[in-house]
Parts: sequence; structure tokens; C-alpha cells
Amino acid sequence: MVQTYAQFRLDLASALAEFLEPMEAHAEAVRWFEEGLGRNRSWLVAHGSEPVPEAEGRRVEAWLRRRRQGEPWAYILGWTLFRGRRFEVDRNVLIPRPETELILEAALEVGGRLKVDRACDIGTGSGILAICLALETDWAIAASDLSEGALDVARRNAEKLGAKVAFHHGDLLDPVPGPLGLVVANPPYVDPADESSLQRELACEPRLALFAPDQGLAVTTALLGQAKQRCAPACVIEIGAGQGEELSRRARNLGWKRATVHQDLAGHDRVLMALG
Ligand SMILES: C[S@@+](CC[C@H](N)C(=O)[O-])C[C@H]1O[C@@H](n2cnc3c(N)ncnc32)[C@H](O)[C@@H]1O
Repeated sequence: MVQTYAQFRLDLASALAEFLEPMEAHAEAVRWFEEGLGRNRSWLVAHGSEPVPEAEGRRVEAWLRRRRQGEPWAYILGWTLFRGRRFEVDRNVLIPRPETELILEAALEVGGRLKVDRACDIGTGSGILAICLALETDWAIAASDLSEGALDVARRNAEKLGAKVAFHHGDLLDPVPGPLGLVVANPPYVDPADESSLQRELACEPRLALFAPDQGLAVTTALLGQAKQRCAPACVIEIGAGQGEELSRRARNLGWKRATVHQDLAGHDRVLMALG
């Protein structure tokens, strides 16, 4: 029997609800229609009683098979939005999270206050922070990542969005030529001991992007140390829930004069700012 678009979306939400919470399943079905099929809510209101072409039905079935295996929607689609911009993503990069906008906003605020003329984004992944900084400031922007695959994605995103970023391959600040300016990062900060309790979608994302030894603190601590040694004026770093107190203590021990922690909307530690 030929299905209408309205029924098709309801059936899709039910299929997604087999492994998602009902609210999430509904929201994701809306995204599949808008982002995947290019059919938004107002289109559905006008065309909901029309039949779904067979080819479109088969496309959605193929997406559903991959989604049932635990693959996140952004990888299936091949892109996601961050700060209103479309970023290509694949399994070489972490899928950008909305809360990372807090890092960008903090970086814009601190960089403006300190009147920096350059910044570097360490562990750039898909390039979101470096590219948004390049597009929203007149600072010279550099970025690094240990993953060549991630850098390929970031370079393509920079080109498509018209952002000028100098990309470097290597460990933390090692490949970035000085002087540094503001250091911005969303490094891996998940404690490997928490792996078994994490959402199943995370299994598709690169381990290098997620996990760090020493209860998730090792990469951030190393970055704070290197940035201080290289006389960066400030660091703005995304951190994990509950990591703020210990990381501020470590930052001060490494020579930073001030270390402050800011929470996200859910009240979790999210931004570490080290100054001086
Ligand atoms: C949490 S992801 C963040 C990606 C992107 N900045 C974002 O916010 O979506 C961390 C990134 O750091 C990179 N990375 C991990 N260890 C690194 C290291 N020692 N030096 C440079 N990059 C590293 C990973 O490859 C990954 O792309």
C-alpha cells in the first residue's frame, strides 16, 4: 500500500522509538525529514496527504538500518550544523556538540578583552572552533590535530566556508609556530573508566577525540603546561562535568595566575579559562 508523507513520518518516529526516548525519536524524525529529505514542517502541512515515492522510502529504510546499528544521524547525513554553519563530518571527527559554542563565545570575549591578534585551536577535529574564529574575527588563526583524517575534514570545511586557517599536523602545540596568542581547545576529556556507561553512539566516534588518561585530565593538563611555557596570554578549554576544581588547581600549579570555571546550562563544569 502507498504511504502518505504524514503517516510515513509517524511510522519513522515509532521505528526510532525502538531505541530512542519518544521525545528524541520525534525530534530526530523531524530532522530526517528536514535535513535528509529537505521537507520541513510547513512543507509537510501542505503535502502530508501525498504519497511517498518508492525511492524516497528506500532511502529512509537504508538510513534506518544504519541508525539501528548505532550510527549517529550526523554521520549518516554527512554534515551537521554548528553556529548556523554547515560542517561536513565523518568518522574521523567528533560530531560537534552545541555546548562547544560556549568555548567559542568565551574565546571571543577573552580575546577581545586582551586585544589578541592571533589564536590557535588545538585538537580542531572538524575545524568548528578555528573556522568560526576565522570567520568572526580578524585574528590570524592556526589549528592542530594529531589525526590526519580529521585535518582533511577540517581543511575541506574551511575551504567550503571560506575561512583562512593554517592547519598543522602533530601533538598539541608542537606543530604550531610561535608566537601563540589565545589558545582555544576542546580536547579529549572522557575518563576511560566511564567507557562502559556511555551512550552507544559514542562507539562510532574516534577514541582519540574522546578519551584521555588520568581520569580524562591528561591532555588538558599537558596543553595547559605547554601553553604556559610558550607564554600564551590565555587558554579557553572545554572540560568535563566535575573536572573544574582539579583542573583549576593544576593550572595554578603550572604557573597560570588565574583559573576560572564556567558551567553550561545544565549546571556542569564546561569552560576552563586560564589567564596570565
Ligand atoms: C573532543 S575532539 C574536538 C574536536 C573539535 N574541536 C570539536 O570541538 O568538535 C578532540 C580532538 O583532539 C584531537 N587530539 C587528541 N589528542 C591530541 C593531541 N595530543 N594533539 C592534537 N590533537 C589531539 C582528536 O583527534 C580530536 O580531533
